[in-house]
Amino acid sequence: MVVVGGTSGIGLAVAKAFRDESAQVIIASRSASKLAEAKQLLGSNTEAYELDFRSEETAGEGAMGLFKDLPVSNAKQAFDSKFWGQYVTVRAALPYLNDESSITLTSGVYGVRPPQGASTLASINSAIDGLVRGLAVDLAPIRVNVVSPGIVDTPVYSGMSEEERDVMFSVIAQQLPVGRIAQPDDIAQSYVYLAKNGFTTGSAVLIDGGAHLV
Ligand SMILES: NC(=O)c1ccc[n+]([C@@H]2O[C@H](COP(=O)([O-])OP(=O)(O)OC[C@H]3O[C@@H](n4cnc5c(N)ncnc54)[C@H](OP(=O)(O)O)[C@@H]3O)[C@@H](O)[C@H]2O)c1
Repeated sequence: MVVVGGTSGIGLAVAKAFRDESAQVIIASRSASKLAEAKQLLGSNTEAYELDFRSEETAGEGAMGLFKDLPVSNAKQAFDSKFWGQYVTVRAALPYLNDESSITLTSGVYGVRPPQGASTLASINSAIDGLVRGLAVDLAPIRVNVVSPGIVDTPVYSGMSEEERDVMFSVIAQQLPVGRIAQPDDIAQSYVYLAKNGFTTGSAVLIDGGAHLV
């Protein structure tokens, strides 16, 4: 099992979940130090590779902001990282796959239920969901699925102060039917399910604590 982004947050939890299923785990991300740390957590059987899936070095100032205010360059950078990053990763992986292989991409609930200021992420996540449906047909019998998480407590929010983050998490938790935001382990099992269930393809697992309902 290759987990691109397997050094942090959801990806690290996915790598742990597959390790616990006795899979051979390979992780990849940009940072050598994060790879070394993750390898220590996951155990010496883990293989780790440096990889940057962006087509070019971009600053990435963030994808959130009202449509009229967000610089177009930010939207393009976000697409370059999240959409094109996954697209080119699948292309690069193709020669190594066989009929039994499965691919799982990651989108997000903002594709179906964007709050204000999330039009870029709504577009990116919808594009990924669409790509998965197309790939499930084009790459068959390779199975292609997508996990679409809601808000998950991961280092992706480490740019915020702890106080800002706690307030944001608790406001969102109060709105959710499940009454809390997700931990990475909540999400990781969806990837294991999609990899193991040979009858899933073109499927989206929306795992968002009910965020699409509120
Ligand atoms: N957390 C949420 O609330 C949430 C909600 C919905 C969807 N998602 C989606 O879930 C995915 C994982 O998010 P997360 O919250 O787990 O984030 P995270 O904790 O920041 O982890 C991101 C991982 O991706 C790697 N990465 C980032 N840019 C890369 C690049 N250009 N090339 C190779 N690896 C790269 C990072 O490692 P390096 O820095 O070493 O490269 C890290 O391992 C993202 O697609 C995110 O949009 C997250």
